[in-house]
Amino acid sequence: MAVAHKRSKPASARKHRAAKRPLLQDFAIAILAAGKGTRLRSKHPKVLHAIAGRPLLAHVIAAARRVVPARNIFAIIGHKAEQVQQAVAHSGVRFVLQKRQRGTGHALMCARPALAGFKNVIVLSGDVPLIRPETIEVLARFHLRNRAAMTVLTARPADPSGYGRIVRKGEAEIAAIVEQGALKPAQAGIGEINSGIYAFKTVALLGQLDGLKTDNVHGEYYLTDVAALLVKAQQKVMALQAANATEVLGVNTRAELAALEAYLHRQKAEALMAAGVTILRPETCSIDPEVKIGADTVVEPFAQIRGRSSVGSDCRIGSFCVIRDSVIGNGVEVRPGCIISQSQVKAGAMLGPYSHLRPESEIGEGAHVGNFVEIKKTRMARGAKANHLSYLGDAEIGEKVNIGAGTITCNYDGLHKHRTVIEAGAFIGSDATLVAPLRIGAGAYVAAGSSITSDVPADALAIARSFQTVKKGWARKKREAQAAQAK
Ligand code: UD1
Ligand code: CA
Repeated sequence: MAVAHKRSKPASARKHRAAKRPLLQDFAIAILAAGKGTRLRSKHPKVLHAIAGRPLLAHVIAAARRVVPARNIFAIIGHKAEQVQQAVAHSGVRFVLQKRQRGTGHALMCARPALAGFKNVIVLSGDVPLIRPETIEVLARFHLRNRAAMTVLTARPADPSGYGRIVRKGEAEIAAIVEQGALKPAQAGIGEINSGIYAFKTVALLGQLDGLKTDNVHGEYYLTDVAALLVKAQQKVMALQAANATEVLGVNTRAELAALEAYLHRQKAEALMAAGVTILRPETCSIDPEVKIGADTVVEPFAQIRGRSSVGSDCRIGSFCVIRDSVIGNGVEVRPGCIISQSQVKAGAMLGPYSHLRPESEIGEGAHVGNFVEIKKTRMARGAKANHLSYLGDAEIGEKVNIGAGTITCNYDGLHKHRTVIEAGAFIGSDATLVAPLRIGAGAYVAAGSSITSDVPADALAIARSFQTVKKGWARKKREAQAAQAK
């Protein structure tokens, strides 16, 4: 399939580059992920809220895994710890429990035994999801080059409100980090913020944790206070300003969650358009970062293409489609309003409007699935058609089969699911009910309105309904009788 990503570079070259990227030596990465996320007003822990189809914490872990091995990554969890651990356990990272959440400094106190064996520690925030591995590497190298005790990744976003601010000391050094609520009038205008991402020399960090106090509005141990403590101990605390402030924005509210997702989708749309995909009204489309789309495909307004989906070239994806974890071949037309989940659609097929492909469905080359057709765990072979108002579940539908309007597979007997096999070239008349398990032979006909309960041999005609009786003149006589009565 000629999708754009595959044209860029052969897989082997990409692999080679990834393998050559040196992992950071002697570095652990701690990810702060124990907090509740009060400002989201949610029953779910903050770090499990998703953007672009992945929990915030999963974005951060993915970046961390690109720079150190998973076993050197420690997610510090606390609020609904089990749920958080379960959601990201497959990544192979390790977990540290912060039973009571007494602040970002306290989180690192809990991680002390886990981190003590590493020379350096990078601290990431589970609620700062757009951080890129390249930036983590730059931070680590800057930190080592300057032999700093602590290096803070800072930024100058358009709106610094809500963030801790950086009080500089000289050119590149920091005197302190001051939380917004504690800013003195003279500090109120500081535009440089603390991203919550740091590099530490481990001994320097662990040496100051016991000196943290809880004399602040929240009564918490602030990790940010380590900066001033280190300065007091004559150690070097550096600032490294991120080139792109958006990359270090945090999520504390639903509005910020929406803003970061919109940013990711905008970036994705721009990359796809640069690679030859037409996206009409890109600001209305939600295309997740891992999605692949081939050149000359047109995506109409308000389409969603989510998860690990791929779409071939020369396709048209209609408005209000929701495509999730599915593979669409070249030249496929998906008319508006289709929902496609975990399914495959082969080249030249035509779907919709308003078709629903539920998981494990496969639509063959050039096949048609039309209005209000629901398909589940069903394979439709090349050229098969089901154009109107049908339910096809647990079925195998052969080449060039025609499924008439309103056909229903009765696949469920209240206890078990059963299969329906319709062989190549069969013709199913409108409004047939096909009671599974059932096999309809190649080239057979099923008469419209039939309720088919046993197999139909190839090339046969099956009729399973009562035959029509015609009573000549019946209606006229009835009308005349009624008219006579009314007099
Ligand atoms: C923090 C920083 C602030 C910075 C901002 C950047 C402090 C005191 N403030 O503020 O200077 O500008 O991040 O986004 O550090 N967490 C724990 N355990 C706890 C408390 C929090 O693991 O006991 C985790 C949270 O889950 C979250 C992260 O630490 O992922 C940051 O906590 P949050 O409460 O969001 O800090 P901010 O107020 O944003
Ligand atoms: Ca935060």
